[in-house]
Amino acid sequence: MQFYIDSANIDEIKAANQRGWVDGVTTNPTLIAKSGRPHHEVIKDICNEVEGYVSAEVLSMDTEGMVKEGHELAKIKDNVVVKIPMCEDGLVAVRRLAADGIKTNVTLVFSPIQALMVGKAGATLCSPFVGRLDDISHDGMDLISQTMQIYQNYDMDTQVLVASIRHPIHILESALIGADVVTVPYKVLSGLTTHPLTDKGIAQFMKDGEKFANK
Ligand code: E4P
Repeated sequence: MQFYIDSANIDEIKAANQRGWVDGVTTNPTLIAKSGRPHHEVIKDICNEVEGYVSAEVLSMDTEGMVKEGHELAKIKDNVVVKIPMCEDGLVAVRRLAADGIKTNVTLVFSPIQALMVGKAGATLCSPFVGRLDDISHDGMDLISQTMQIYQNYDMDTQVLVASIRHPIHILESALIGADVVTVPYKVLSGLTTHPLTDKGIAQFMKDGEKFANK
């Protein structure tokens, strides 16, 4: 399973990348706005830091605008993946960009039927949002298993990127289901290696080690 970081904060991305946690990056307009910097400049910096796919979202809501923005974003570097919001115009843009050799990631997917349409449009990545579904009392992970099943049934090439991850259980369940990619906020990523019993065990071993270390 690939790990992406869901962030537009270059310091976070660098810190996570140095630890080997970053196979790719997803951004969205909310994350870019938080960075307080121009969109293309942020994407360029991220692409210079990370070798894997970097998703950069378009702001247009019509096919022509999305295709135009998609071409501009794709020019930044060859690892840019154009992020397209889930809608009819968006899926037409996905087909056109794919025909031009440009990779796409369809975002804001909340149902397995939407995911099927994303696969049929030929997107590189499909991003179902689990946390936002959980927030409204739906089981977000059901969407992941159903999407995986559909793509396997029809041998679709689109990869499932689990988005809107809130906690490590989302990552565990994604791994058990066999999802292709998880995109994870830095705060959640940095908690994945810890366990209170590990900390307690290390403290005890260090204490006992002192008894013979200098003998
Ligand atoms: C994914 O590409 C999105 O940027 C992200 O996962 C959205 O997560 P949120 O629901 O925490 O905003």
